[in-house]
Amino acid sequence: MTSLSSRYDLKGRTALVTGAGGLLGQQHTAALADAGARVVVTDIGLAPCEAAIAKIREIIPSANLVPVAIDVTSQESVHAAVIDLAGRGIQIDILVNNAAIDPKVTSTPGVMHSSRFEAFPIPQWQMEIAVGLTGAMLCSQVFGGAMAKRGNGVILNIASDLGVIAPDQRLYRQPTITRNEEQPVKPVTYSVIKHGLIGLTKYLATYWADRGVRVNAISPGGVFNNQDPAFVEKLTRLIPMGRMAKVDEYRAAIQFLCSDASSYMTGQNLVMDGGRSVW
Ligand SMILES: NC(=O)c1ccc[n+]([C@@H]2O[C@H](COP(=O)([O-])OP(=O)(O)OC[C@H]3O[C@@H](n4cnc5c(N)ncnc54)[C@H](O)[C@@H]3O)[C@@H](O)[C@H]2O)c1
Repeated sequence: MTSLSSRYDLKGRTALVTGAGGLLGQQHTAALADAGARVVVTDIGLAPCEAAIAKIREIIPSANLVPVAIDVTSQESVHAAVIDLAGRGIQIDILVNNAAIDPKVTSTPGVMHSSRFEAFPIPQWQMEIAVGLTGAMLCSQVFGGAMAKRGNGVILNIASDLGVIAPDQRLYRQPTITRNEEQPVKPVTYSVIKHGLIGLTKYLATYWADRGVRVNAISPGGVFNNQDPAFVEKLTRLIPMGRMAKVDEYRAAIQFLCSDASSYMTGQNLVMDGGRSVW
């Protein structure tokens, strides 16, 4: 019988995290490096990758981290990364589709707010879908396709509690704005992308089940990051545990979902939201 801790061990494996320069991407990278994986740290430019690596090395000095710029919306960029990595003898065992655009909800009084469904700009729809959904599809096609050929691998899609429930638009209402159509809302794109990622997860899990590639999703709830206190207060009232997540609270789940600890799990969505979607 193998020890339980050895099932979390990622020594000898290489993970690739998209959007790794961001708030949670750094955490996912740290979690994977902490479990012994080499991590290819990717983001739209090299600068955010290097900055993330410097921060992670402060807590895990021995972390084996490889920066590579990947724009997940560009087939050229993803294919160039594959060639670059292959040239260095690096193949990807674990893919974390994390890159996304999370548009901040702000408002300009006096005009129909462009985040509202009736006025939502098509170029913004296309751009956000290109990053959050098509980007995950493209990286899965390229890196997951190679895993399927080899007969093993793991894909983890970073969804959201808003991939399971609709946004509660009351959270974004601004008391100084009286006209409803001027109120900002959480855009439709976020819901569509996150629900879509869970669909992609189920599709690929069954598509590659016989090829040794497991595909799961995680749906994190909102992370506290010094947001407006009024917003935090309203949001925490919707969460049974009465608080937002701490930034490092998803790390253990990332290790679980990306390692052999979850070896009999595929096509699932692990919801970690302080109970918000249960209410
Ligand atoms: N932060 C939260 O509270 C929270 C909650 C639930 C789910 N999520 C999800 O977790 C993931 C990470 O969120 P975050 O808060 O760290 O966001 P973030 O904005 O801090 O990070 C997103 C990263 O994606 C990168 N990116 C944007 N466009 C890209 C492109 N074309 N190619 C490659 N990279 C690109 C950005 O440069 C950025 O580094 C997202 O999928 C988000 O939807 C976040």
